Amino acid sequence: MRAVPHLMLEPAYDPSGASRDAIGIGSSASGQLDLRHGTILTLEDINVSFDGFKALRNLTLYIGVGELRCIIGPNGAGKTTLMDVITGKTRPDNGKAFFGETLDLTRMSEVEIAQAGIGRKFQKPTVFEALSVFENLELAQRTDKSVWASLKARLSGEQKDRIEDVLTTIRLRESRHRPAGLLSHGQKQFLEIGMLLVQEPQLLLLDEPVAGMTDAETEFTAELFKSLAGQHSLMVVEHDMGFVGSIADHVSVLHQGHVLAEGSLEEVQANEQVIEVYLGR
Ligand SMILES: Nc1ncnc2c1ncn2[C@@H]1O[C@H](COP(=O)(O)OP(=O)(O)O)[C@@H](O)[C@H]1O
Ligand SMILES: [Mg+2]
Repeated sequence: MRAVPHLMLEPAYDPSGASRDAIGIGSSASGQLDLRHGTILTLEDINVSFDGFKALRNLTLYIGVGELRCIIGPNGAGKTTLMDVITGKTRPDNGKAFFGETLDLTRMSEVEIAQAGIGRKFQKPTVFEALSVFENLELAQRTDKSVWASLKARLSGEQKDRIEDVLTTIRLRESRHRPAGLLSHGQKQFLEIGMLLVQEPQLLLLDEPVAGMTDAETEFTAELFKSLAGQHSLMVVEHDMGFVGSIADHVSVLHQGHVLAEGSLEEVQANEQVIEVYLGR
């Protein structure tokens, strides 16, 4: 299920804000995130098992602030499970998962994690087809803790500016009034990335973003991600090695739920173990 933030918010809405304060998330999550040590995501010794099958085993991974990290690995390596742990969809059996220095992801709900600044894009675009591009962005932006306030309020100038910026970033300015259902597959993917960006996430998780894209769209996605890095941190799961090579400073190879190797794409591709288990040579 895609986490459609505005629909998921209602049960979590807490007028007093007490529950959020208890876990250290204020109204502006990005302002609260403690990034003093330069690490946006800390995963240490994470284990996840499904009916005795170990999908993640002692997985340890750190993502730096502003980093663009690619995660590669064969099918079944645990890449999606890893994203499920980060977003609170799956609870690890044990291990540490921290967003910044202080936010314990294993103790937060999916909604709280999204509000704290982690945005996830699933493989299949799930835009609202009958709504225009602009309306999709507008809706995605209404992730304010106060659903009530966002229903009453019109978009602030700042919110409109943010949507305008994002329309430019994702190159859909000309299509702003088109129903999203009429966009190409690639444009829908860009719109969905835009729907994350209007929420101003600190960390973006993207699962196979260029699957099904044309070469031109793939090239634009590479440019887009490189331009987002720095201001955002990105974790990209992708099979397309040409794409990975064009964007990643740093690649982690997952195999059987464990990080097998890390480094530049050239480094991991030269790693004997990686060649054996992953490239199958
Ligand atoms: N909900 C689940 N129940 C049982 N097994 C699961 C579940 N989710 C994933 N798995 C298993 O965990 C392993 C890792 O899956 P996944 O994280 O989807 O790998 P990847 O995304 O790298 O292809 C696979 O063997 C998969 O079958
Ligand atoms: Mg997967």
